[in-house]
Formats: sequence, C-alpha cells, structure tokens
Amino acid sequence: MNRRSVLAGLAGGVASMGLLAPSATAAESGGRPPRDERVEALLDKMTLAEKIGQLQLVGDENTARAALADGRLGGVFSVVGAAKLNALQRLAVEGTRLKIPLIFGLDVIHGYTTNFPIPLAQGASFDPAVAATDATVSAKEARSSGIHWTYAPMMDVTHEPRWGRIAEGSGEDPYLAAKLAVAKVRGYQGDDYGKADRVAACAKHFVAYGGAEGGRDYNTVDVSLQRLHNLYLPPFKASVEAGVATVMASFNTISGVPAHGNGYVLHDVLKGRYGFSGFVVSDYTGIQELILHGLAGDGADAAAAALPAGVDMEMVSTNYAEFAQRLLDQRRITRDQIDDAVRRILLVKFRLGLFERPYVDESGEVKAPSPAALAASRQAAGRCMVLLKNDGAVLPLAKSVGSVAVVGPLGAATYDLNGTWAGLGTGASTTPPVTVVDGIKAAAPGAAVTYTAGCTVEGTDTSGFAAAQQAARAADVTVVVVGETAAMSGEAAARSTIDLPGVQQQLVAAIKETGKPFVVVLVNGRPLTIPYLHDNAPAVLEAWAPGVQGGHAIADVLFGVVNPGGKLPVSFPRAVGQIPIYYNHENTGRPADPANKYTSKYLDLESGPLYEFGHGLSYTTFRIDTLRLSETRMPARGGRIEVSVRVANTGSRAGDEVVQLYLRDPVASIVQPVRRLRGFQRVTLAAGASTTVSFTLTPEDVGFYDNAAQFRVEPGKIEVYVGNSSAATLSSSFTVV
Ligand code: NOJ
Repeated sequence: MNRRSVLAGLAGGVASMGLLAPSATAAESGGRPPRDERVEALLDKMTLAEKIGQLQLVGDENTARAALADGRLGGVFSVVGAAKLNALQRLAVEGTRLKIPLIFGLDVIHGYTTNFPIPLAQGASFDPAVAATDATVSAKEARSSGIHWTYAPMMDVTHEPRWGRIAEGSGEDPYLAAKLAVAKVRGYQGDDYGKADRVAACAKHFVAYGGAEGGRDYNTVDVSLQRLHNLYLPPFKASVEAGVATVMASFNTISGVPAHGNGYVLHDVLKGRYGFSGFVVSDYTGIQELILHGLAGDGADAAAAALPAGVDMEMVSTNYAEFAQRLLDQRRITRDQIDDAVRRILLVKFRLGLFERPYVDESGEVKAPSPAALAASRQAAGRCMVLLKNDGAVLPLAKSVGSVAVVGPLGAATYDLNGTWAGLGTGASTTPPVTVVDGIKAAAPGAAVTYTAGCTVEGTDTSGFAAAQQAARAADVTVVVVGETAAMSGEAAARSTIDLPGVQQQLVAAIKETGKPFVVVLVNGRPLTIPYLHDNAPAVLEAWAPGVQGGHAIADVLFGVVNPGGKLPVSFPRAVGQIPIYYNHENTGRPADPANKYTSKYLDLESGPLYEFGHGLSYTTFRIDTLRLSETRMPARGGRIEVSVRVANTGSRAGDEVVQLYLRDPVASIVQPVRRLRGFQRVTLAAGASTTVSFTLTPEDVGFYDNAAQFRVEPGKIEVYVGNSSAATLSSSFTVV
C-alpha cells in the first residue's frame, strides 16, 4: 500500500490573502535522479537479485562477508580501519560478478580522529566556519582510512532539552540550523566528494525527530504541515540545495505515519518538491520497526511501505533482501521503484569515484590527530563557549594568579569532554582530551594548581565536600567544573529533569560557603536548569563538550587568551516544567503579564527563559545602533532590502559580537512567531573599533509555509529587530507590498 499522501491530506484550506511563492510549484510526483550513462549501463547488466543486493547496508564485518558470499550487499557501516575496509572491498570488487564496490559509512559526527566540540556547541559559535572546519578535518581523516560516507550532519531542530540528541544538532532555530548544516555539508563534500579528502554527507534525521513528545527518544511526533515546513524542514531543504549526497529517515512517526513509511515527506517533499537526487538510507532497523510502530503487519508489509515511500537503502534489517522479489510478484512494489533506488545508490558510488578507486592507500591512513587538526579543534572550542554570567568581571583570571583550586567531578575528566559520538577513528580513542586541570596548569605555569573532585557527576556522596572546601580556602580562586558525563546526552539519553545531576549543585553551594572567589564551568550536552548558579555563582561559563583540546580551550577563555563570543543556540529554561520553551514561539491571545492572572503563564514561575536564545556575554562591551533600512517597502516578488547597523566595541579589549537580526510579521494568515532569526554575523573588533554590519532581506525571509504547505508572502508590516540576543530592542519596520 502506498501511504504517500496521508499527511498531505491534512492540508487545510487557508483563506487566500497573499501571494503563493514559486517554491510551491515543483512537481509533487517524486523526482528522479539525473540520467547517468554509467549507471544505466550497469543497471542494464544487473539481475534482480543483484539490484536488491545494492539496497542492503550492514553494520558488521561478519554479516558483510556472509552477504558478499551471495554477492548481495550495497554497503557496510561501523567497520573502521583501512586494512579491514580494503579487505571487504576486495571481496566485492574481485569476488562478485559485476565488481560493484561497497560504500563504507560511519557516524563521523564531530570528528573522526580529532574530536571537535559537539554540534550543539558549534551552534553556539554562530559561525558556519567552525562547522565547516570540523567537517573538512573530519572528512580528510575519515577518507584516509577508507570511510566514504558520514552519517552527518544531524540537523534536527528541537524544542526539547530533555531529548539527549539535542547535543547532536544546532538547537532550536531552523535558520541557524540550516546555515550550520550547509556549512557542514560543504565541509564534508567539498565541491566533489569523489576527492581523496572528502566524504559523502547524510542529512539526518528526516524528519521532525526533534519533536519527540516529552523529549523521550524515538517518541511520537504529531506536527502541523505549517510547522513541519517552517520549523523542521528548512535545514534539509537547504542541505539538498547545497548538494547533500544522502538523507537518513528518522525513527519517529510524523502525524501518525512513521518516517520510514512516509511517502509524503520522503517521496513528495524530499524527492519531489526538493528534487533530491541522492539516496535515502533507513536508520538502524528503521524499516523493521514499522512493525512495532503498527504500520506494518510483518516484514513484507514493512518493505512494501518503505520502498514506495522512498527509503532506498535498508540499514541492518533485511526486509528488502528477503521480500522484494515476492512483493514484486504480488505487484505490491514495482521494478521501477527498485531501479530508482538502485540508480540513486549507484550514482553516489560513481560520484564517490569508487569504481575507479575502490581501495584506500593504507599507508596514508591518519592514525593520530595532527598538530594542525588539534589547533583547529582548540580554536573551534574557544569560539563555541558562552559566557552566561560574569558579575564584577571575576573573569578573566589573571595569568599571574598565585593559586587555583580546580574542583568538581569534571575537572579531571578526559573522554567526557568529547561528549556524545566521540570520533570512532583510528587513534581517536588513544588520544584523550586535555583535562581542565591540565589546561589551567599550562595556561598559568606560575600558579599552584590543585584538583579535588568533591563528588561524582551522578552520585549522592557528599563526603568529598570538606576536602573541596579546604582546597578552595587555600586558593586565590576556585574553578568548579560540573555538568554531565558524555553518556548523559546523545541517542537514547533522555533525562526527565535537566538539573545539574547528583550533588553537584550542593558542591557549588559548599564552595560558595567558603566566601572565596569562584567561577563555574559547565560541561554538558544540553541546556540545564541552573537558576541556582545564576543566583549564586559570580561567573558561569558554558563550555559544552568541547572536544579533544577541551582543557586548553577552557583555560584559553578563563584566562582571557580567548574572549568568549558564543551565544546560546537554545533557550535555557528556569525549570523543567516550562518545557517546551523557545524564543520563536507564537503569541497567545493572552501573552504573559505578571499583573494579570488570566494570561499565559505559570502561577509558580517567572515567565520567560533563564537565558534567552542568542544570549552570551563577552569580556568587553558592545554597542549596536544606527539601524538603517535601504527601503521602506519590499515588493513581494523580487524585493530586496539592505539592513545595516553600527556595532562598536566600547570596552577595553578586543572581542567578538554576534549581531543578530530578527523579524516579526504581526498580522498573517498563519500567526507568526514573535521573532524569527533571519540573519547573524559574528564580528571581531579591537577595543574602541566599530564597523557596519549589513544584512540583505528578500521575500524568502518574510514568507512562511501555510497549512497547505504553500509558501506565502503576504502584504503588510514586518518588524525588524537587531541586537545581540533574541531580546534585541533596536527596531524598525518595512512593508511588504
Ligand atoms: C542510529 C542513529 O539514530 C543514527 O543517527 C545513526 O547514524 C545510526 N544509528 C547508525 O549508527
């Protein structure tokens, strides 16, 4: 059964009050990959069994060998090492009739041999160059050891800090997520992913996975068409436009139809409307899971739902391999559908250059991070850090400080600094991250530096507090390093509270009790509810999971070698009960008003986040003013407005500011978010220096998708806000005509 149009059926009628923009006109019939002579010639020679074999992806060597013995395998993932991969490739190229090479995939998420900060941290950099650098370094390392294909970038927008996989994406904003996704796709693929230092990327997870109810991984997602297209799809659309080679289906349902059987999102939107010409891979047993979801009665049913919906390659489960022939005989799937899937897979293999160069040069395999890669990772980590609070300029610390007590369970952590999805590459696991203690020792060689854990991350034992207090009393300043272990975020790592785990908050309180100066460094993979820290710690630095150079990068910021310029890519709630809380929400008819009971708020909690999206401090200060618009009117077709502001560094040291532009459409046929990010630029300014930052706005920036999934640009006023967070107050407006 083809369930392609289930979601489209939700499309409601919307009062016509504006222009439908051209992106709505693309055929919804399912795009075809471009015709390629090499692919067609090969396809002509293939038996049905060989074709079905190309659709199978397996995740271990033994299964791969068994499948290859039958000549029925398209690719292998999660096998690492040039020699091993060459050996497998030899079986395919020398041992099968048509010598079709295997594609080798791996989760190279934020590093292969050299770990970079986690993707959420990269979101905080508001700097696509950070994402591009990670991807470029990772691609080179991975390809050198025979990996052709990474399961990244992850671009799931989410409003759910409980969801562990928030660590893998860029946070809550579709515009920011799209910019970083595109930077990563380009970084991995370059202009030709056939080159020896590039890999094919995979946009994942398609789609709306970040909407998991309650933040519980793999959970149900029920989403309106307008939200699907305005919130979850933009990074995927942008990645397809940037040429992403592959896309991975997501584990969740989308309004009742699991993504793996969802023809609306895969066939109609991705392959049809977006014209995606690469292939769609299932997630791990995602096709088989259609049975437990309740969409399919058995494996044959699952295959019959997934293939027509648009899943081309099956990861781990084997329903295509087992049932495709029978389904064809029963006319539940077509030869065309199989050929289309095979074509897409072969096209990517040709583009990877696998037919000309199936093997990797084992002597060139990167086995340890290079000095240049380490330097790039350290620099990236510095750009990702967010100074949440800094009362009385307690930071930066003076390099001449006499003594520093490092306290807290993460102060001497190594692998936890890599966060989730640490690099799986050869050498990565033998290169532990630099600890915060070691980073501080290196940054202040003259200081006496001590380390006392005080407690563990998740334990309840407070017997170490006394020693920690003693260390704090003996030192000029204490750096308290608390947060989450790497295992507490990422896949299948949802938390029902997002407080500092264990007794870490009590540890901070114990240090405060000493009356000595202290700062808090957070290492974590998600927003945390930290009103206590906000009220009690003089300074809080959000370091995320900063990667292999984490300790150095944190010390760079603590001692002011790097002036922090990162901004939050996600709101930090005051309490878990406030979730979902996100800056780009719709207004209610009764916006929160503390003076009026009958407004949208909690009785027992101040409204709004603890730290808003886009928030982040610096060791210097900035002024943003002189907001100018080149026009007061924007034609809905072809219009263009330049927005400019002056930004000045008004403090006494060089620093970075992220100038952010938000729009609001106060009256629209689909009520619009109170603000939407539509531009950002990170600038570095010397003390006293100033510059002009400009943004170009077009109808694409002011339009939105309606509940028929049509892009609309409606006439009327658009408010513009520019500043250094989503709470920006500098404003102007123009009119769409
Ligand atoms: C499951 C995860 O959801 C996905 O992100 C990952 O790429 C695959 N496993 C393969 O490891």
